[in-house]
Amino acid sequence: MSNVTFTMIKPDAVKNGNIGNILQMINNAGFRIVAMKYTKLSLEQAGKFYEVHSARPFYGELTEFMSSGPIVAAILEKENAVADFRTLIGATNPAEAAEGTIRKKYATSIGENAVHGSDSDENALIEGSFFFSGLERF
Ligand code: PPS
Repeated sequence: MSNVTFTMIKPDAVKNGNIGNILQMINNAGFRIVAMKYTKLSLEQAGKFYEVHSARPFYGELTEFMSSGPIVAAILEKENAVADFRTLIGATNPAEAAEGTIRKKYATSIGENAVHGSDSDENALIEGSFFFSGLERF
């Protein structure tokens, strides 16, 4: 079990002014920020990041949305990081997300759902390396 996960605060949450609120919830849940940047993906970069979903019917919508505005990308550290962060963010569809989760509070739809969280230790490393070099991790 690895102790890091990767997250993005998605364009909807950035646009709605929720970067601070979401970082506070992450902090309060006991995650340490190892690396963080404010950036914007091109459509091509979003396509690459979400390549594993390229056969899904929502791939075009997802990649267009994720390249539609700035995001915050971060690597987070905590014991049991991947599972605990998935619990903190809640279900993909905010209509199904538990009370008190980030998506329950800040997501608006299954597509525009405020935050991303890695779904496995392996993907956390792959996704973190997509955005950050070793020199950017503290
Ligand atoms: S999986 O494979 O079960 O983990 O897939 P899932 O978590 O359901 O979704 C993977 C990512 O695709 C986004 N998604 C959508 N975008 C637009 N439209 C629809 N209908 C849709 N359904 C799922 C979802 O937000 C996930 O994004 P990430 O960034 O991985 O959370």
